[in-house]
Amino acid sequence: MSEIKLPEVELNIYSPKDPVEVEVVENYIVTKESSPNIVRHITFNIAGTDLENRVRVGQSIGILPPGKNEKGRPHKLRLYSVSSPTDGEHGKSNLISTTVKRTIDELGNKLYLGVASNYLADLKPGDKVQMTGPSGRRFLLPENPHDFNYLFFATGTGIAPYRGMIQELFSEGFKNDCVLVFGCPYRTDLLYADYFEKMDEEHENFHYLKSISREARRHDGSKFYVQTQLQDEKELLYPILAKDNTLIYICGMKGMETGIYKELVKQNLPEYLQIKKELPENLDDIPQDKFKRFIKPSMRTFEEVY
Ligand code: A2P
Repeated sequence: MSEIKLPEVELNIYSPKDPVEVEVVENYIVTKESSPNIVRHITFNIAGTDLENRVRVGQSIGILPPGKNEKGRPHKLRLYSVSSPTDGEHGKSNLISTTVKRTIDELGNKLYLGVASNYLADLKPGDKVQMTGPSGRRFLLPENPHDFNYLFFATGTGIAPYRGMIQELFSEGFKNDCVLVFGCPYRTDLLYADYFEKMDEEHENFHYLKSISREARRHDGSKFYVQTQLQDEKELLYPILAKDNTLIYICGMKGMETGIYKELVKQNLPEYLQIKKELPENLDDIPQDKFKRFIKPSMRTFEEVY
């Protein structure tokens, strides 16, 4: 297979001590149907800043929410993955997008709203934001992206970088195989679904697989998760995984990677992994917090979990 060479990227052109002010140009909900899990696509105008043409899809930008925390200190920087392609949202180099889920929780019996995500979600076109970045040097498409096949796994807003990556690949006439496996609790939580469904219809080499965890159950009573597609859609996925120029990307909730790695071991696909220790007969015997001592991603697997 061709060498996996990642592009050189720039980091922290703007630091938290020296952020840049950018303007919001759009902010809309990306679920098709109304859902209590509110996820928004937010686009910023970076014209005239040093970020223009210098942020790659797969990297993150930082946002500094205004105001202070309960200790009287300025709110900390929050990182958000870029969801526009490297050449910019709508192909415009001055536009950069991200995907934000409103964090809403109940602590005791009090409603808690995440500071940065709700600040961002409330923004209107014309509002100004303090931005930093970019950050991230590994979760990227390789320099020669058209030499590979891709299996992209996402849960929730982990889909953000893939939106940009898939737009980028297919706008340049991508001919190899590309599969997006997306996991979310309910059908109403599918993100950018219209776009990915259209891509699936229009491109024979693009497949959009949905793993909806809290509706139907699998035949054995287990939940539909992204990793269960490796079994349920084996006919499609195994031949792609068996090719020596396929790369796996995993983005979303921490812990999702272990289910995928266990399934890769079971399907005898060790080339995506580094096996560090002798594995127990039953992989579920490995404690979650010790998992990395046994199995890590190889060069062919890219992981961004949080
Ligand atoms: P569930 O919470 O029903 O068990 P979101 O970020 O929108 O909450 O979606 C996260 C999705 O990832 C949910 O469908 C969630 O399912 C699922 N999920 C939870 N734990 C894991 C895991 N260990 N591996 C893969 N998917 C998971």
